[in-house]
Amino acid sequence: MSIDGQTQLVGVIGWPVAHSLSPAMHNAAFSYASLNWRYFPLPVRSEHLGEAIKGLSALGFRGINVTVPHKVDVIPYMDSITEAVTIVGAVNTVRVDRNTGRLEGLNTDMGGFLTDLAANRIGIGKDSRIVVLGAGGAARAVCAGLVRSGAQVTVVNRTFERAQSIVAFMKSSWTHENIEAVPLDSLASVARTATLIVNTTSLGLWPDADATPWPAAVPFPAGATVYDTVYRPLKTRLMREAEAAGLRTVGGIGMLVYQGAAAYEVWTGRKAPTDVMRLFCLQALGEGPVPTNDT
Ligand code: ATR
Repeated sequence: MSIDGQTQLVGVIGWPVAHSLSPAMHNAAFSYASLNWRYFPLPVRSEHLGEAIKGLSALGFRGINVTVPHKVDVIPYMDSITEAVTIVGAVNTVRVDRNTGRLEGLNTDMGGFLTDLAANRIGIGKDSRIVVLGAGGAARAVCAGLVRSGAQVTVVNRTFERAQSIVAFMKSSWTHENIEAVPLDSLASVARTATLIVNTTSLGLWPDADATPWPAAVPFPAGATVYDTVYRPLKTRLMREAEAAGLRTVGGIGMLVYQGAAAYEVWTGRKAPTDVMRLFCLQALGEGPVPTNDT
């Protein structure tokens, strides 16, 4: 399909964005659905964020994704934000109202994570004991979704103060008390009763695929599930070691696909072709069958 005067524009703003899988994923979905829409990587430095955001409606963009390092800094430029943004504290999707030019900030990372848990039949509720490894941006989306489910959440991070700060933020924006921070050296004691372990750190991410956030001295809890938000490689060292210990593991590709699908649906008003999006992500990662235009 060619680009013409009717082509609708979306994209991703971040720095850097060259490694983002989102352009391949969304353009494949648009092509599959025969929508005359295109998704562009938009590398924007922090000092230009305000100008870039203000230019979106002037340029006729229908929306954007927002990625590292702009997910928090973009919030003041929004005309409105959703409840998910309030409880996560970050925007990953912007919708531009085509009539008024007003900008709505959304967070589809939290919903993407919860949708993928459900898709993998990982039930979470009041009886769940969940250990979240890491306290960065991804941890915020994960913790907000988990806390809302009523599960008991423990945040463990190399820098304890960052874990404490997430917990304080969750408690301030949400009335639940079911989240706590513990130092990394207390991991062994909280891990013993964990039913779900979620890695939100970047440890194990390509090209440092030999790294793992799980200390060798800490036994994996029997019967637990490990969810790794890292999706490159598809099977991380954490997942391999957890599987060797008999645990079930799920990688982060589904969270990527479902956060993208939710953004697609917000922008286009149509149901996202999630199978196609997943296939093109796998292909871009060099892991899947080569999709054809028929897929
Ligand atoms: P993101 O937005 O992708 O979550 P981030 O905000 O940079 O990225 O957070 C990265 C997470 O990985 C943090 O929890 C970080 O721990 P610190 O808060 O102590 O920095 C964790 N992390 C990254 N490299 C790490 C390492 N070598 N050892 C332990 N934790 C690490």
